[in-house]
Amino acid sequence: MLRRLHPEQPASFAFTPANQAWAKGQISKYPEGREASAVIPLLWRAQEQEGWLTKPALEAVADMLGMAYIRVLEVASFYFMFQLQPVGTVAHIQICGTTSCMICGAEDLIAVCKEKIANAPHTVSADGKFSWEEVECLGACTNAPMAQIGKDYYEDMTAEGFSKLLDDLAAGSVPAPGPMNGRFSSEPLGGLTSLKEYDSGKTQYNASAQLATDIGDTIKRIDGTEVPLLTPWIGKDGKVAGRDPSTPVPAEAPTPKPAVKQAEDAKKTPAAKKPVAAKAEEKAADVAEEAPVILTEARDGGADDLKKLKGVGPKLEQTLNELGFFHFDQIAAWTQAQIAWVDSRLSFKGRIERDGWVDQAKALASGEETEFSKRVAKGDVYKD
Ligand code: FES
Repeated sequence: MLRRLHPEQPASFAFTPANQAWAKGQISKYPEGREASAVIPLLWRAQEQEGWLTKPALEAVADMLGMAYIRVLEVASFYFMFQLQPVGTVAHIQICGTTSCMICGAEDLIAVCKEKIANAPHTVSADGKFSWEEVECLGACTNAPMAQIGKDYYEDMTAEGFSKLLDDLAAGSVPAPGPMNGRFSSEPLGGLTSLKEYDSGKTQYNASAQLATDIGDTIKRIDGTEVPLLTPWIGKDGKVAGRDPSTPVPAEAPTPKPAVKQAEDAKKTPAAKKPVAAKAEEKAADVAEEAPVILTEARDGGADDLKKLKGVGPKLEQTLNELGFFHFDQIAAWTQAQIAWVDSRLSFKGRIERDGWVDQAKALASGEETEFSKRVAKGDVYKD
């Protein structure tokens, strides 16, 4: 299947503030120079926020990670889990069409999709609420036929039950996920034949369905305010925990812990390993800004290829040119105050110091090459 960007694209993309903070936390998990490792989580979060991956979203993620746009597009177009076209505003339905589900009635479910949503997959319904596709085995074969709707599985479905499910979703309710035939989980259809004393008994639904019901985000777009952040050293406001200057100092100092306990805690606390990006961002925020020397255009001989600086992709190079920076020697001369000035005009603060632009620029301005600039010159990094 040919996977291309949709012909109609929105003008822009921005993570919500909470998702932006979450994304920064993901990036900070990886060592300096390896930020591209966060590409899949960031793309996934962009899709969770918007429903599908737009061109501006791919570009925004590429800029955050210092990657060439084509590299991010390669990832997004390779994995079928990424939707490259608009999806329904209520839900995107993924019907499993692999062996167990096919034998047990997947084709009937697909017929419902064709009748109630759209004849062709990846097409938004006339009312804009739904879209659908057939997918490969989703690993719930015992409960075939099944579909993933949003983030959860609906199992043991019939065409009639699925049709009603779509009506309920369209009307604004979200039926509990899990088996639709009264089964608790994946026990035999005729009831338990062994381990009969087993009492699941404490929850209404099986573990997955119960959690889905408790969280209630089955078909919700994720703006980052509803999920626990997985990078405990980055707060929801994007600041490193305990470093927000607007947070009042507690009137009473907390009771000191015994020295041994403090030492143990220090070893366990993730904040003890503050990420490079967070350190660079804090440092940049502390320095008063001063405008560097800027040019209205490149000097005779043309602009330097600023993409030879590791961390500067095509979009950032364009931004730097728009700000008035065309040459390595300009960047090599930046002071701390000037770095702070430039930093405050970039979308992702702290990257100048994190990526060592000034040192790289000094080397390149004096005619040396870096390992990265050699790769750029050979065409290994940017193919455009
Ligand atoms: S065959 Fe459908 S979930 Fe495995």
